[in-house]
Amino acid sequence: MGIGFGKVILFNEHFVVYGLPAIASAIGAKTTALVERRPGSGVELKDERPQTEGYKVEKLAQQKESLDRMLKFMNIDTGNNAFTVTLAGDLIAASGVGASAASCTAIARAFSQELGLNYSDEIINEAAYEGEKGYHGTPSGIDNTAATFGGLIWYKREGASQVMERMKLKKPVEIVMGNTGLVADTKVVVGGVRERKETQPEKYTRIFRAAERLVQDARKQLEAFNLEKVGDYMDENHTLLQEIEVSCTELDLLVDLARNNGALGAKMTGTGRGGYMVALTPGKDLQERVARAIENKGFQALRTTIGV
Ligand code: MEV
Repeated sequence: MGIGFGKVILFNEHFVVYGLPAIASAIGAKTTALVERRPGSGVELKDERPQTEGYKVEKLAQQKESLDRMLKFMNIDTGNNAFTVTLAGDLIAASGVGASAASCTAIARAFSQELGLNYSDEIINEAAYEGEKGYHGTPSGIDNTAATFGGLIWYKREGASQVMERMKLKKPVEIVMGNTGLVADTKVVVGGVRERKETQPEKYTRIFRAAERLVQDARKQLEAFNLEKVGDYMDENHTLLQEIEVSCTELDLLVDLARNNGALGAKMTGTGRGGYMVALTPGKDLQERVARAIENKGFQALRTTIGV
């Protein structure tokens, strides 16, 4: 059985695609993959993950491309061998929680185990990165890195290579992730940012500079465990993401709701235009209050922690 962690991006999704640093954390929920041999040839995929309605159908073609890319990367001959891959686990297959990356990592690990390939985490991460390309053409690699290594990470892409530093929190912190229930296409949303960045260079240069400064300051405050300040930076990061037009009405509504119910900060997380938002809610009581407020409006809330 292979596993991959779900993730939350705390700072600088989208900006990370262009080489700016970002901060992400694995969350408690995971995807599992089981690879079993069977007679014949080819790979059959059974997807038993819980999902946001419509997610699996919407992602089916990308999932196939992703699996083909990974099989090629791992040099697995499916002409003369047959496998059944079963995906399961408690991570909801939805936009914004790293569902695709968690599944890629879990699949790479499951093949490595079944075929005795003894892949290191670094190779698993490379295989998962290859798989992520099936879901969006130019992944930064932050999702598969969080899915593979877990923990709280500082991540930066430098050309073809990547820098990952582990960060430590004084103690784990409760967060709430609110699900809009909308499925987003990362390829389309990332492509939209690229287009606008090219046509509005001045505006985007200003926003990118602000995002670069913000993430450096946020890192310091996170490491100092100054959560009030971290929350303020999350709010500011959300504003920058709104400015590059990757938020949406439902995400803004959930962000406001969380803030009005006492969250120290809240922002969209991941691709945007649907998917999840994240609220910083230290302490079980605050976490419960914010989660209930989200549920009372008819949305799903995920209670989890960062920095474990
Ligand atoms: C998606 O979870 C995060 C994005 O920044 C894309 C990427 O980093 O590849 C939107």
